Amino acid sequence: MTSETAFNDRMLSLGLARVSEAAALACADLIGRGDEKAADQAAVNAMREQLNMLAIKGVVVIGEGERDEAPMLYIGEEVGTGEGPGVDIALDPLEGTTLTAKAMPNALTVIAMAPRGTLLHAPDTYMEKLAIGPGYPADVVSLAMSPRERVEALAKARKCRPCEITVCVLERPRHQEMITELRETGAAVFLIPDGDVAGVIHCAEAERTGIDMYMGTGGAPEGVLAASALKCMGGQMWGRLVFRNSDEKARATKAGITDFDRIYARDEMVTSDVIFAATGVTDGSITAGVKRRPGYVETETVLMRSRTGSLRRMNYRSPLA
Ligand code: FBP
Repeated sequence: MTSETAFNDRMLSLGLARVSEAAALACADLIGRGDEKAADQAAVNAMREQLNMLAIKGVVVIGEGERDEAPMLYIGEEVGTGEGPGVDIALDPLEGTTLTAKAMPNALTVIAMAPRGTLLHAPDTYMEKLAIGPGYPADVVSLAMSPRERVEALAKARKCRPCEITVCVLERPRHQEMITELRETGAAVFLIPDGDVAGVIHCAEAERTGIDMYMGTGGAPEGVLAASALKCMGGQMWGRLVFRNSDEKARATKAGITDFDRIYARDEMVTSDVIFAATGVTDGSITAGVKRRPGYVETETVLMRSRTGSLRRMNYRSPLA
């Protein structure tokens, strides 16, 4: 039996939800405490502990960093009980460490799982990203287009005016020119302070979020996680690695990347079925954050499978000891 045929996404998905729930619960007490590192560490510890309970032969392909930099959930770390299907794991135990430390919206714990060898081993560099939701013709926008051309092409496909398009962008000085060009088209720019996995996910539910397109440069690991979510929800996404120095190119080479200019479409970042779970840490547009109630703590998790396109919203009550 190949590891792919043994990848029972239906059975594995609940386990994945437990992993992201545990990470969110673990950093709940650190929301708004100004300590990014402590919040991240709490999420990492909990995620690792839960992952190691799953009946999988897992390898972390998107993790907390390289082995010599991250003591836990480093790239290449084997996780799970060692019995079960061989799987690739992409994770970000706390996507939005600063958001959590400042008690700002949209911090999530995020994890994706797919058969072994099917998730892009993205190095810890930046990635230029472009994403839109489902229902558009293939390649209606592209990374080769200017921001203006993308807005115009999307507006044409949506049969609306450019001023009716909303684009989500990470608020960073490197995006200033792009933001100016987008605004010149009449489009609205929805700026986010952090958290571009959620930024991309917004596009998949445009009617609910009001966001039609995501563009800009953010973490490459987050790019693979976002591609996993979009593969479950529908939508198109492209990413191109961005290198700032030779050290980053060396990281990419180590991760097996040979073509530094390659544009990866969604299904080239995630080549097979994938399952994806995200739990809210702080309240956000994807999920509610962790809530303390009398006697228990409550989380909300979105759990998705690309094979069926199913999406569950799950509330978990963890009794207080
Ligand atoms: P972490 O909180 O996990 O560090 O990442 C937050 C984030 O905003 C990502 O969503 C995004 O991809 C990346 O940081 C952008 O990097 P930078 O802050 O260097 O622009």
